This record gives sequence, C-alpha cells and structure tokens, in this order.
Amino acid sequence: MNRPRDYADLARVDRTHVSLYTDPEVFHDEMERIFYRSWVYVAHESEIPNPGDYKTTYIGLVPVIATRDAKGKVHVLVNRCTHRGATVCPYEKGHAASFVCPYHGWEFAPDGQLLSVGLPKGYNEGELDMAQLGLREAAKVDSYRGIVFASLLEVPDITLEQKLAGVRPVIDMYMDLSPVGEILVGHSGIYKHPYHGNWKIQTEGSVEGYHAIFTHQTALDVMARKMGAFLRGFQNSGLKGLDVGYGNNILEVYRLSDEQVHQRWPKPYIDMLCDAHGERRAMEALRNRFNLVIFPNFAILEYQFRVIRPIEPDFTEVRIYHTTLKDAPAEINLKRVREHEFFYGPASFGGPDDYAAFDRIQEGFRAPMVPWVHLNRGYLSEQTDAQGHRVGDLTQETQQRAPYYEYRRLMTREV
Ligand code: FES
Ligand SMILES: [Fe+2]
Repeated sequence: MNRPRDYADLARVDRTHVSLYTDPEVFHDEMERIFYRSWVYVAHESEIPNPGDYKTTYIGLVPVIATRDAKGKVHVLVNRCTHRGATVCPYEKGHAASFVCPYHGWEFAPDGQLLSVGLPKGYNEGELDMAQLGLREAAKVDSYRGIVFASLLEVPDITLEQKLAGVRPVIDMYMDLSPVGEILVGHSGIYKHPYHGNWKIQTEGSVEGYHAIFTHQTALDVMARKMGAFLRGFQNSGLKGLDVGYGNNILEVYRLSDEQVHQRWPKPYIDMLCDAHGERRAMEALRNRFNLVIFPNFAILEYQFRVIRPIEPDFTEVRIYHTTLKDAPAEINLKRVREHEFFYGPASFGGPDDYAAFDRIQEGFRAPMVPWVHLNRGYLSEQTDAQGHRVGDLTQETQQRAPYYEYRRLMTREV
C-alpha cells in the first residue's frame, strides 16, 4: 500500500502538484474528504417547484435525486435501490408519485420511504425491515435563495450560512436582477460540456481573469466589431479577484457607469427594478458583474449556473444551466439567452475554446518531469481587505489560489 499523501505539501499556497490532477488515489480521497463530507451544490429549487417534482444529478460519483415531497420539503436521496443496487430513477428531471426500481419493483416515495416491494410474500417474518430500507438520504441539506446544497455522509463542520458568508452579497445582487428577486434555473436550456481533464481545471477556470485575450481572441474580435464603442467604454480598471473564504472566490468581471447601464438595458426594465428594490440597490445590481465560484463544484457566471461533475481524474462534465429572471420582461430574458448562446453554446465563440484549452492542460500533465502548476501570480502583492478577504488584481491568481486553502483544510483532516 502506498503511504498517505501529504496534501499540505502537494497543494501549496503558490503552486499545486500535478498528481492532484492525475492520480486516481488523490481523486478517490477528494471524493471521500471533499465531495462526500462537505457542502456540495445539488440543485436550485426552481427546478423542482411542486410536490412530486424531481431532478437527478451527482454528488461526486454518487447518483442522487433531489425531490420535493408532499409537504413541499426538499430531499436529497441516493439514487440507489436499497435492495440490490439499481438506480431507481433514470431521467434527468420530471414529476413522479413514486420511484419504482426496474429490477424487482421496490417502490420509494419522494421522501425516500420504502412503500412496497415486489412479491412481498416471498419474505419470511423478520426478513424485511421496511422502515430501515428507504433510500439513503444526505446527512444535511440546506439552501440559500433557492440554491440547494447537501453534504452526503456527515453534517459539515461549518453551517451553510458560514460557508456562504463571503458570497451572499453577490448572490443577492444576482437574484435582484429579477423584480421579484427570484430566478428560474435551466428553464431556458442546459449545455453539457465534457472535457478530458481534471475537475479542478474548471474550478480554477471559472474565475479566470485574463485568459480571454488569448483563448477567446476570435470572440473578442467579433464582439469588438459588434459593440466596439460600448466595450471601449467599460470602466475596467481596478477590478479585483477575491478569496472570500472556504474555497469560495469572486472575479469582478466589469463595472458599468449609470450611463452605460442605460445603453445596455431598456428603461422600462431599469424602472421596474428601481420600483421593486429601490434605485440604489437596483443600480448596484445592474452596474456590477461577477463570476463566482462556490467550492468545490459550483459557479455563477453572467447568465448561468455552472455545475462541475468529476467523473474520473482526467474526465469531467460541466453542466451549464441558463438562468431566467422571474417576472422580468420577455425581451430581457431573450437578450440573456442570445448573449449566453453567443459565448457559451456548444458551437459558440467562447466556451468551446475553454474546453479545448482544458484538454490541452491535461495532455501537458502527462509530462511528470515538470511537476508543478504555478498559481503564484500576484501572491507577493496580495492584500487583505476590511472583511478579511484576500484581494488581488483580477489578472492575478488570487481566485485560483483560493480553493486550495479549503482543499488543504478538507484533505488533511481525519475522516
Ligand atoms: S434491485 Fe431494486 S428491486 Fe431489486
Ligand atoms: Fe474562457
């Protein structure tokens, strides 16, 4: 047996070791210590609005179902029949009074309870403990503004409130682009991007501060032709990358002047938000744009919820759920769809370039004689702000270093 890995040495403050992206045993430890024992994004409540609605997804490698029971409570259940193992739900989403296993017909309620089994008379008295054989439920489920997180095997050592403390103001601003402060997730489509690379490449890549001028040169050329004057007018100086704690981090993407907000969005929509939230609050939400990572598997970018699904050390699927602003004018939501598909669609100008870059990173990782990934850009000039958050210029690598503080904390503890 190999000796235990020293994760504090492999994930240093300014560099990560290539084995963290390639080694199957590291991947196994990440599932056990991070994905199964800390807060992981599962769903948004708007995907399962009514009792009986469900959505299937994964926590790490484990297939799960997010359900809403008859009383409206959200459950996160392991999608694994407690008889002999089949998944009980094969669909991505839907509505069901119960889940019936395809193998021997065991039937489970949306809250996980075992309701009935196939041919029950074959069991002798004492052989079947129905109360103990419900679908396994996550140890802890909690949500913030409809965003549902779960910890599969243990109640985490921090509450969800603690975990999200540094990102809540940004989440609130994102939701307040809707006049009723609510979004609908995935109602206007989902993109799935598999790539041949480790999951952390996307965690790092969701808050990249300056790759765009290299990786997305074509897209930027087209955008400059379409909206050159507007782009040139961005007040982009002074934008920051922030490490806001527990692996979470924020990239300030752009900041508009009030005049630019009015160029960008029709007046009736701006007025609608000002009426709903007050002018100061509404303009703050309209002016500022962020990319945001909630470690380990979730990011919010301009028009999307991004969910990172690790499958193998060198294979990952990213699901990009478009977000719709509830009760906003249809033309606003349509504009959000069009801009989103321009950059992130499977045949678009932006997203596919990122996944091509990720494939190439993983291919480069086959060279063990070059063992370190460098994340030290701006490390020596990094500051701490009034809230205690590490801050650097957006083109530096504060955002990429941030996850590894939490990575070290979780990977070096006893489980
Ligand atoms: S495996 Fe599900 S009923 Fe047998
Ligand atoms: Fe990109």
